[in-house]
Amino acid sequence: MTEQKPVTQAAAKPVKTMALPDAQTVTEVTHWTDRLFSFRVTRPQSLRFRSGEFVMIGLMGEPDPKTGKQKPLLRAYSIASPSWDEELEFYSIKVQDGPLTSRLQHIQPGDEIILRPKPVGTLVHDALLPGKRIWFFATGTGIAPFASLLRDPQTYEDYDEVIITHTCREAGELTYGAELIQSIKDDELLNELIGAENLAKLRYYPTTTREESAKMGRITDLMRSGEVFEDLGVEPIHPETDRAMVCGNLAFNLEIKELLEGYGLEEGANSDPKQYVVEKAFLD
Ligand code: A2P
Repeated sequence: MTEQKPVTQAAAKPVKTMALPDAQTVTEVTHWTDRLFSFRVTRPQSLRFRSGEFVMIGLMGEPDPKTGKQKPLLRAYSIASPSWDEELEFYSIKVQDGPLTSRLQHIQPGDEIILRPKPVGTLVHDALLPGKRIWFFATGTGIAPFASLLRDPQTYEDYDEVIITHTCREAGELTYGAELIQSIKDDELLNELIGAENLAKLRYYPTTTREESAKMGRITDLMRSGEVFEDLGVEPIHPETDRAMVCGNLAFNLEIKELLEGYGLEEGANSDPKQYVVEKAFLD
């Protein structure tokens, strides 16, 4: 391996690390709350991916105190941008003592990150059987893969109705998703690409659990009570018509899985498409 310079925490100046393996350059960083940020990086020319997939990204780790050697510190991050975008977008939590995000949160345009160009994942259209209505259930940063899927024309070609639910603790944590939905509806390019008629299929159902907002409560409780179906004016989930993709924290994923199985949906995979798929949102 060639000599590698560390990506340090120095937030003020761009970090040049030309010797990084699989280096990509940060082009934009947005801080949404003190716990959440998103960033865009250059896209490797050869990288093809399916909306909803993730890649491993990260920084060089701190030098080993004994050997002075550095190893890449990588985590799985869903690609939040659509597959037709020239750049790649990611949405991340900031964990103050997290090995990666404690440092990653300080990146600035011009800095470099490591990106292994091998996309994988189960939140892909290929893992679902055809249906009429697709549900995207997210908590926290779990909205990232859906930010990609919601900008993919196939989502609207495959379904008559597209419903995204997003549950966060606080109202400010909904902003990234709320702006995304608004931009999808307003964006001229997307309207042209996906079609205004298709975009009218999109419904957004944000909820908060620890701060007052228009709709409060865990989505799982709102499903159990039937409130979400009443609010949206749709029939409860049924295996013949409904498909679902789930991405959130572990407890949420397990609870939604149980609910979906209760409605009669079965878990699918790339090699065995069925009615729903699940993936864990990354937490550092
Ligand atoms: P709550 O505030 O009631 O724990 P986090 O930020 O911890 O990842 O949580 C994101 C959101 O997911 C929070 O609104 C949280 O609600 C919710 N959540 C956590 N666990 C579950 C669960 N088992 N079922 C449904 N929602 C959950």
